[in-house]
Amino acid sequence: MTKEKVLVIGASGQIGVELTLALRKIYGNSNVVASDLREENELLRGSGPYVSLDVMNKEMLHVQVIRQNITQIYLLAAILSATGEKNPNLAWHLNMQGLLNVLDIAREEKLHKVYWPSSIAVFGPTSPKKDCPQRTIIEPSTVYGISKYAGEFWCNYFFGRYGVDVRSIRYPGLISYKSAPGGGTTDYAVEIFHEALEEGKYSCFLREDTYLPMMYMPDAIRATIELMEAPSDKLTVRTSYNVAGMSFSPKEIAVEIKQHIPKFTIDYKPDYRQQIANSWPESIDDSVARTDWGWKPEYDLSLMTKDMLENLR
Ligand code: NAD
Ligand code: SER
Repeated sequence: MTKEKVLVIGASGQIGVELTLALRKIYGNSNVVASDLREENELLRGSGPYVSLDVMNKEMLHVQVIRQNITQIYLLAAILSATGEKNPNLAWHLNMQGLLNVLDIAREEKLHKVYWPSSIAVFGPTSPKKDCPQRTIIEPSTVYGISKYAGEFWCNYFFGRYGVDVRSIRYPGLISYKSAPGGGTTDYAVEIFHEALEEGKYSCFLREDTYLPMMYMPDAIRATIELMEAPSDKLTVRTSYNVAGMSFSPKEIAVEIKQHIPKFTIDYKPDYRQQIANSWPESIDDSVARTDWGWKPEYDLSLMTKDMLENLR
């Protein structure tokens, strides 16, 4: 079997830190190269190689891939939904060109596998709100969602035309305690825990009844690894897979937190992110991922809340 050497791009971000650590357990510390535009996250320090890298600099990226004998790339560098609405051109440029740079290099260097996450943000106001299916009406209304949807079809194209084994998941909003989220609409579900513990109160930028699909990070990391380890011939989706974890509203998560911190209070001051959240489904149907590669989440709202609070304390 060929030795795998993995490059994680965007390794200092919310997912990157935990995914890099998980991949280092599988492939060995020295075989997983972490990279990012910003400095190495302190949780990664000392656990394996790190290079400073801009995914937009295709030449430098190519040099690193050749120099380090990279066989797999996990591309996590992106601008998320809320930040994207503040700077649509930048979001489109990074989210598209970064992906195309990686796919081109993967084709030229015959990389074994590429991972690139999409998002529930591909869905728009005309998609079904509840149990949104894998294949349905998709008319995204944010630049982030547009870039993810276009990206899904680039992945499908590179797989079909050039045989690049690129795999993808439409992550729901991710909740984690290790590294901070990076400018998404679902970030409230992380902030709320920090504020509950530090201040005993939280002012939420979404309305109390805004249901969104969410997932706890351990489930997201496991989903990613399970998809990447699945036999290629089992995968019927080469755009991006729906996966579901849980669905809740700010009011519901506040009630759950109150069970552990009785004095906790919440108020609601919806801002521009409300409109983004309104355009997304409330819950996701992930039956295709379950059938194709055996996906099944472990964490619900109550288990996740307990684990978040224990770890943050
Ligand atoms: P994040 O913002 O926390 O991390 C992204 C990382 O990419 C950052 O560390 C940033 O410094 C780095 N980066 C930015 N520009 C770069 C460049 N030009 N070159 C190299 N690195 C660069 O994001 P995240 O939450 O970890 O998301 C990772 C991926 O997962 C993204 O594609 C995102 O769209 C997707 N996703 C995330 C969520 C979520 O809830 N976190 C949900 C759905 C999809
Ligand atoms: N959590 C992400 C966001 O809110 C969804 O892709 O942007």
